[in-house]
Amino acid sequence: MKIACIGAGYVGGPTMAMVALKCPEIEVVVVDINEERIKAWNSDKLPIYEPGLFEVVKECRGRNLFFSTDTKKHVGEADIVFVSVNTPTKTHGIGAGRAADLTYWEGAARLIASVSTSSKIVVEKSTVPVKTAEAIGKVLKRNCQDPNVNFEILSNPEFLAEGTAMEDLKHPDRVLIGGADTESGQKAIQTLAEVYAHWIPRERILTANLWSAELAKLTANAFLAQRISSINAISALCEATGADVSQVAHAIGTDSRIGPKFLNASVGFGGSCFQKDILNLCYVCETVGLKEVAEYWLQVVSMNDYQKQRFVERVIGAMFNTVSGKKIAIYGFAFKKDTGDTRETPAIDVCKGLIRDGAKCSIYDPEVKAEQIFRDLSAPKFEWDRPNYSRSQSHMLENVQVQSDPIAAADGAHAICVLTEWDEFKKYDFGALYEKMVKPAFIFDGRNILDHAKLREIGFITYALGKPLDPFLVKGY
Ligand code: NAD
Ligand code: UDX
Repeated sequence: MKIACIGAGYVGGPTMAMVALKCPEIEVVVVDINEERIKAWNSDKLPIYEPGLFEVVKECRGRNLFFSTDTKKHVGEADIVFVSVNTPTKTHGIGAGRAADLTYWEGAARLIASVSTSSKIVVEKSTVPVKTAEAIGKVLKRNCQDPNVNFEILSNPEFLAEGTAMEDLKHPDRVLIGGADTESGQKAIQTLAEVYAHWIPRERILTANLWSAELAKLTANAFLAQRISSINAISALCEATGADVSQVAHAIGTDSRIGPKFLNASVGFGGSCFQKDILNLCYVCETVGLKEVAEYWLQVVSMNDYQKQRFVERVIGAMFNTVSGKKIAIYGFAFKKDTGDTRETPAIDVCKGLIRDGAKCSIYDPEVKAEQIFRDLSAPKFEWDRPNYSRSQSHMLENVQVQSDPIAAADGAHAICVLTEWDEFKKYDFGALYEKMVKPAFIFDGRNILDHAKLREIGFITYALGKPLDPFLVKGY
């Protein structure tokens, strides 16, 4: 059997590496239009950072795992074609700012149709609006020259989280496969299930109809993001009342119906999926006339925006209502720890908010490159997922410095803002950092990872998100 995957990104790369590792008899080729990306996949410096990924790629690459730009050849030869291209939010036209932009998906479908001389299973790996399989089916069928070629479309959404992708792929809670309720549809489901059954227990391989599988992915992300917005909403109330959000989260999380996971209050959720997929869900609801349902889910995104804005206001308010000309060290730019990914990271909005008020941000992140940070801070919203986006906000960069050393970032700063929960931040010598900072020195912990009592002992005015406020902060705000 031959598998091709269109899209060598955060999902296509790790997922196919795992398939190749667990199914040595299957040839797996990951193809992409981005030559630089493919070159990196074939080198010792992979295009994405993911713990454990390099070891797997090293073991399989050249054996039964290949990365190539020869899309036509490999897609043409494959029995199963996964499509794992980006599905960003539309920036122009009808549905701008909400709807999923399926340009890349449609391009992939047209390509599959044009090179297919044998029947294929086409697997939706990308997250797509419900009913996409129907549209894609039409594109495939009407563009294939050979009437004997049959396409069976399956929805097989990916639930991996970045930073833990390899573990998630090795031991997933479940794999979901949706297919048509026809004999050939059920046969295709079984063929794909056989691939996963190489390493995943059968009872964890769930099957569903196509629309349920597509919708389950959007729903899973909406529910996960909703938990974070819910606890973040409570974090604001905690600060106003003297309650402690960690204690509240622990107390509710021990209720087995609620569960303890995904209840960490934060400066806001980021990542390429949550916001995009909720907006996509809202758009689908609106298009079928479910205005109230759309409004309900939209509130999850609004609460996230509020949380980022609240953090910025807290920083500015505490620092005597002005950060103009003040250096502020930003610790962490990635959207979460153990990844170099910055897509929709809350750090973008926080930095922009501080810079708009005149602050000079000095940014340190152990994994994110300076070039990426400069790109993110000069791109307008929703543009990050496109190769040639405009940099209309490049004026932001006048007040941005990127440091490769956390001490240099804090040297002469009035405040440190912790925006990503990197483990290394917990080990820093904050006494030494304090000595280098302007007094009063502030720390704003947007992830609640530091030892706040110790920081206060050192002399920092300390803000811990969702926790009782220092008297100084209450007055300042
Ligand atoms: P990505 O941007 O990292 O990768 C997509 C790749 O597809 C890019 O390298 C792009 O060059 C390539 N591509 C686009 N059109 C192509 C074409 N016609 N032919 C060949 N290559 C093409 O995106 P990603 O993070 O891997 O996400 C892919 C999909 O998976 C999205 O729909 C996303 O919502 C979904 N998803 C992402 C995650 C995640 O954690 N990143 C998790 C689950 C699902
Ligand atoms: C998410 C989903 O978890 C995954 O199933 C889906 O396939 C893709 O989208 P990802 O975005 O990679 O994965 O990371 P995730 O761990 O979900 O974190 C998303 C954001 O939420 C991060 O910014 C993270 O810091 C934040 N978060 C997470 C919180 O603020 N609090 C939490 O308790 C958990």
